[in-house]
Amino acid sequence: MTNELEDRAMCESRKSCAEACPTHCETSPIDEVAHIAQVLETQGRFGLTRSFIQHGTMSVHAHVISVARAGLAMAERLERLGIRIDRASLIRGALLHDYFLYDWHDPDPSHRLHGFTHPFAALARAEEDFDDLTERERNIISRHMFPLVPIPPTCREAWLVCLADKVCALHETIAGRIPKRSTGGKEVSL
Ligand SMILES: [Fe+2]
Ligand SMILES: [Fe+2]
Repeated sequence: MTNELEDRAMCESRKSCAEACPTHCETSPIDEVAHIAQVLETQGRFGLTRSFIQHGTMSVHAHVISVARAGLAMAERLERLGIRIDRASLIRGALLHDYFLYDWHDPDPSHRLHGFTHPFAALARAEEDFDDLTERERNIISRHMFPLVPIPPTCREAWLVCLADKVCALHETIAGRIPKRSTGGKEVSL
C-alpha cells in the first residue's frame, strides 16, 4: 500500500513538472535536469544564480546543475538495484539547494556564518518563489550541509544530493586551484 502511494506521488510529481513546462514539451529522459532548470528559471529567480560565484570561478548556477546531474547519476545506479527514487524531487531539490540568492563572498557581517545558515536561507527564498515544494525537496535543501549542520537528511533523495554536493564542491575547489599551463594557445589544467 505504501509503495502504491509512493508510486502515485512520484507520478503526480512528474506530471506537475510536465504541466509546468513553459514550452509544453514532454519531460525528456535525456535531459531532465535542463528541463526542470528551464521551468525554475521561468517561474522563479533561478536565473539569478548565474550572477553569483560558488567555488573557484564556477557560478552557483553551474554548481547546482552539476550537483543535480551527479545526484541523478547516483540515483540511476540505485534504480537499477530496484530502489525507487523520486527523480523530479531529487532534481528540483538539487537545483534549489543553494538558492540563497546573495554573493557569499561579499564581506557583509550577515554572511559570516554562511556555511551554517545558507540551507535555511535557500529554503526561505525557494518557498517565496515556489508554493508547491514537496517534503523531499524541502528536506534536500535544508539538510544538504550535513554534517556541518548536524541535522541529517531523512529521505534517500536528500542523502544523494548531500553526497553529490560534497563530491562536486571538492572537485570545483580543487580544479579552481590547479594552475593552468599554456600549450600553443590552449589552456590546459594540470
Ligand atoms: Fe550549499
Ligand atoms: Fe552546493
